[in-house]
Amino acid sequence: MSISFAGKVAIVTGAGGGLGREYALELGRRGARVVVNDLGGARDGTGHSDAALAVVEEIRAAGGEAMANGASVTDFAQMEEMVARAKEAWGGVHVLINNAGILRDRTFAKMSPADFTAVVDVHLTGAAFATKAVWDTMRAQNYGRVLMTTSSSGLGGNFGQANYAAAKMGLVGFARTLQLEGAKHGIRVNCIAPIAGTRMTEDIFPEQAFDAFEPAKVAPAALFLVSDEAPAGVIAGAGGGYFHAAYITVNEGLVLPDAEQTVEGVAAAWERIADRRGDWPFTNGTEQAAHAMERLGGG
Ligand SMILES: NC(=O)c1ccc[n+]([C@@H]2O[C@H](COP(=O)([O-])OP(=O)(O)OC[C@H]3O[C@@H](n4cnc5c(N)ncnc54)[C@H](O)[C@@H]3O)[C@@H](O)[C@H]2O)c1
Repeated sequence: MSISFAGKVAIVTGAGGGLGREYALELGRRGARVVVNDLGGARDGTGHSDAALAVVEEIRAAGGEAMANGASVTDFAQMEEMVARAKEAWGGVHVLINNAGILRDRTFAKMSPADFTAVVDVHLTGAAFATKAVWDTMRAQNYGRVLMTTSSSGLGGNFGQANYAAAKMGLVGFARTLQLEGAKHGIRVNCIAPIAGTRMTEDIFPEQAFDAFEPAKVAPAALFLVSDEAPAGVIAGAGGGYFHAAYITVNEGLVLPDAEQTVEGVAAAWERIADRRGDWPFTNGTEQAAHAMERLGGG
């Protein structure tokens, strides 16, 4: 089976370097017309450069079609303009990879409110703005593929990354909800948790790990998740040739007898309440109350 993006228009945010650049190059090689978005800032989000242009040149040099866009994902009007330009030139937008990101790592004790909101703005609100800008187009086309970039930091927490982890887990809830709302319009929404040696991880990964996790090795999973063949509503992990899935699960839980429905009763039963036997993956928020009703004998 060969997976082609011929006839597709794809936007990759934060594609001036790192992972986004690899996604854009591979999409271009596989026939997509690519909008390379990047405001070209430093790792903490300050400053600007022509990073997107250089990637466009690379795609063109390899025989592909691409346009540069230097907008910030945090500016909704600029996102709307980016989408309008892509539609004007190429008639639609089929794929959006929300990849732009910054870091402002500090323990929460030392993190300023501004460092918290700056990181949430780029990762979470930025993904929402870029997606909002393409959403009506995808609905009207009855076709869309949207990929959110989550992280092990969001899924598991990470010391020094309260802002980043909050945004990254927020993207999972955002993706799940869009998956539910977009399904009937042919839109599939997924999440990727990459592992890659980029400027974002250069002082976090040991040198050997940095080299083993080339960003290009994440592109196969990312492109699969935005292809015609993509699954829907998944969280996939990828790095260095290793691929996995992640789940949010709910356990069986238990119904406490009336007399034990007290603070002390919950404390005494906690190990049985939290027992992981019977874990099942949670894919729709309404399942919690439905399951509780069933367990209580009312469903
Ligand atoms: N590298 C990893 O191991 C890893 C792990 C988990 C998640 N991620 C995520 O993958 C994505 C890509 O990260 P990377 O490792 O390639 O780092 P990177 O710093 O090379 O890439 C991020 C890009 O986003 C751009 N960007 C920042 N703010 C922007 C804005 N407001 N508008 C448009 N572009 C903006 C930057 O200029 C940069 O080119 C990020 O969302 C990151 O959080 C990376």
